Amino acid sequence: MNVLRTKEDVLRFRSDLLKNGDELGLVPTMGALHQGHLELVQRACAENDTVLVSVFVNPTQFNNPDDLQKYPRSLEEDLKKLQTLSCDLHVFAPGVSEMYGSDISARKYDFKGMAEVMEGAFRPGHFDGVGTIVEALLALILPKRAYFGEKDYQQLQIIRQLTRQQKIPVEIIACPIVREPDGLAMSSRNRLLPKRLRNEAGFIFQTLKAAETLFGTKSASRVKDYVRDAFQEHPDFNLEYIEIADSETLQPVNRKQKNKKYRAFIAAYLGEVRLSDTLALNEPSLPHDN
Ligand code: PAF
Repeated sequence: MNVLRTKEDVLRFRSDLLKNGDELGLVPTMGALHQGHLELVQRACAENDTVLVSVFVNPTQFNNPDDLQKYPRSLEEDLKKLQTLSCDLHVFAPGVSEMYGSDISARKYDFKGMAEVMEGAFRPGHFDGVGTIVEALLALILPKRAYFGEKDYQQLQIIRQLTRQQKIPVEIIACPIVREPDGLAMSSRNRLLPKRLRNEAGFIFQTLKAAETLFGTKSASRVKDYVRDAFQEHPDFNLEYIEIADSETLQPVNRKQKNKKYRAFIAAYLGEVRLSDTLALNEPSLPHDN
């Protein structure tokens, strides 16, 4: 597999593509690839002539140095997984100094209130870090389409906002959450869970599904109370937040309005591992949400 390491490599690769008039799809990742990533790559392969997967653990989006240090890194394994896909696939795996030089810091963005809630409230600076690296990757790689999972739904909406604000000509494609048989949303962090706790992890999705049902008849605040109580009773979980927010603007809902779409967002610690998940509350269920 062709692994590009430097910005120079990417520029050379891009100019070869341009000569052929090929359409390029980008799948930005932080590695530790799982089936959810592979489905993003497969979708990108189906919709583009050539696909570039970036693998870069971006330091500026981690507000906790311990979390950055523990984040799983497995480039060799990732390459093997990607090799199983039959498609014109390339990997960009730069080092930190290649992307940041000597100044490892994030730009400051104004994402119009979308970055102050949920993940942004509990991980200060996180979305500035995500914005900085995604903008840098898009500006360097100039893909026709870029693929992101709905698992990080707030990130997805913020990246859409980023591309509008910065007028970046790319199509942002959202892909559904891929779940384990017990409903746990696939995430690179899941591999950090010890087996006993892994067996408990389906509880997040079960609680989200119960919240979805309740939301049909109860207010957002009643539904959030229900979720808080359920987590309170679980001996292994420590709930960080439950929020119910407008799917477009990400603003927390006070009073439900007809014609608006809402989602529930949860982040919780299971032992030492921070997990997050989200579910649309009043949209038709997709097969993966059942
Ligand atoms: O979702 C991720 O894996 C990361 O936040 C991203 C988009 C690759 C930016 O580092």
